[in-house]
Amino acid sequence: MDLRIKTFEEYEHAYNASIADPEAFWSSIAEKFVWYKKWDTVLDWNFEEPRVKWFEGGKLNITENMLDRYLVDQPDKIAFHWEPNDPEGTNQSITYKELYHEVCKTANALRSLGVKKGDRVCLYMPMRLEAIISIIACARIGAVHSIVFAGFSSAALSDRINDAQAKVVLTSDGLNRGTKQVDLKSMVDEALESCDTVESVIVLNCIDSSPNMVEGRDYDFNELIQDMDNECEPEPMDSEDLLFILYTSGSTGKPKGVVHTCGGYMLFTAYSFQNVFQYQDDDVFWCTADIGWITGHSYIVYGPLLSGATSIVFEGVPTYPDAGRFWQVCEKYKVNQFYTAPTAIRALMGFGLDYVNKYDLSALKVIGSVGEPINEEAWRWYYDHIGKSKCPVVDTWWQTETGGIMLSGLGNLSPMKATYAGYPLPGIQPVLLNGEGEEIKENNEEGYLCMKFPWPSILRTSYGDHERCKNTYFSNYEGYYFTGDGAKRDENGMYRIIGRVDDVINVSGHRFGTAEIEDAINTNEFAIESAVVGFPHDVKGQGIYAYVVVDNDLKNGTEEIIASLSESVIDGIGRIARPDKIQIVSGLPKTRSGKIMRRILRKIAEGERTNFGDTSTLLDPSVVEQIIQNAL
Ligand code: WTA
Repeated sequence: MDLRIKTFEEYEHAYNASIADPEAFWSSIAEKFVWYKKWDTVLDWNFEEPRVKWFEGGKLNITENMLDRYLVDQPDKIAFHWEPNDPEGTNQSITYKELYHEVCKTANALRSLGVKKGDRVCLYMPMRLEAIISIIACARIGAVHSIVFAGFSSAALSDRINDAQAKVVLTSDGLNRGTKQVDLKSMVDEALESCDTVESVIVLNCIDSSPNMVEGRDYDFNELIQDMDNECEPEPMDSEDLLFILYTSGSTGKPKGVVHTCGGYMLFTAYSFQNVFQYQDDDVFWCTADIGWITGHSYIVYGPLLSGATSIVFEGVPTYPDAGRFWQVCEKYKVNQFYTAPTAIRALMGFGLDYVNKYDLSALKVIGSVGEPINEEAWRWYYDHIGKSKCPVVDTWWQTETGGIMLSGLGNLSPMKATYAGYPLPGIQPVLLNGEGEEIKENNEEGYLCMKFPWPSILRTSYGDHERCKNTYFSNYEGYYFTGDGAKRDENGMYRIIGRVDDVINVSGHRFGTAEIEDAINTNEFAIESAVVGFPHDVKGQGIYAYVVVDNDLKNGTEEIIASLSESVIDGIGRIARPDKIQIVSGLPKTRSGKIMRRILRKIAEGERTNFGDTSTLLDPSVVEQIIQNAL
């Protein structure tokens, strides 16, 4: 199924057509997919409620478009090459036909456990083919998957299971990550102590650890599926039925479940995949993200399979056994399109070029970046040394909520400018707003990045809390979707993302709300009050700086307290959210009305020591002095 634009002129033409008549534009793309019944209406929307419906009344099953349709023309084409954590380990390859049968067996297994259309299934799994098979198996039977990154703690897992009211959890005994083995099953057991909706747990054996299995609840993955039929009738779904929930952090409260639906997400992930990466039939694509993040959902699973592509699933990490691992894998599979995060590039830059130059990267055609702004130095290194100054860098800006890539170059078709994400994809209508909510028409001015028209894979709601969805994304600027990012546009219409303008911090491409980290800190017995901000970090993009007021009556050593605070974050969220710096303070700078002045804390974390602007509203200015004296 070819959805590719082939020249920049064609892009301009498609873009204009998509603005002039979005319904006609997206219908002509929808026609290329397999539907059991055509839709009644193309688009029904209103950003005030908000309500967005694409292709309502259309009946389909997304997996029919990922697997069944390819059984005719390319059953023996490789869908995935799986590369294990250990380079000495045995890699696996799976064809479209084999994948189809494995998915059917797993789907039948889920049905045998009573999973029906609309039920939620939680996945807490390593980067194994079985994880991908399980995701697709859910979609096959209309179950709603909710993947939780296997680096989150058991507390974070149980929050997500409870919010989604999941019926089944798929997990493994453990996982391999570099030199480490992580025990996942006991994390699940711990999480389930406070979850009462889960009826069954399916456990994949990955590390031969013979985990504790609860009789009547826990099933071995392979034993369960081995006798299942390898054909499974797909569940007919409405275009607007739920496909999945994915939890992501916002500026306030607990992470929220971003909801995506079947039809629109299908169209946009396939369309953006083919166009941004300019994927061609015999290419090998590699997205290094984890399936626990939206990038893994859209560009490991859905976009590539909908396009009939061959891609890589990688279990390991960029620096194990050494910093050449990515490039070794690129050489081994002759990767044509490589897609990773700036944090990985910055980390690998530090190890020098010997690790790069050992490998043949000549198959590369397009190299991509995602998750955070890419700084000029990292961009140059990536372009010069990985792309050998001949591969375009596609700097793809998008979000969990947008479902797919919104701003980016399209392979080698578009002009490119370091640190600029570039142009909007067809169908995407970005605007920059000023503080008054007015559209900024001038070039090179910073504004709030918003969208004024729906695209097919925009989030539909926050699971179980539509009001929250409205307040988070559709209330700041009436009639617009607000991204939470600041951006500017140059004289050629290219966009540059500045970064988040809300209380979300982006650490190595992982999103955390400052409130969420503070909540975890505040569960600690020593903590009275805390404030968390981000600060610039050479490798991670942003680091986490926590200011904590502790109980003075407790006579513990500072180091011990700091370690304990750190542990609370690891327990509450996961190791990935552990603060880089924790400063014990006697008080936080507050206004007379009791609001914490984060602006000041952010500046101190950035290294500012003198210039804090207007501090006249501070209740007690001496607090700031004290914080500065001990700043880390
Ligand atoms: C940031 C990841 C600059 C941005 C797909 C956004 C980026 C947040 C880029 C979403 C990029 C993502 N340049 N910033 N190319 N890509 N971001 O939901 O702040 O994990 O709002 O989705 O990451 O993160 P999320």
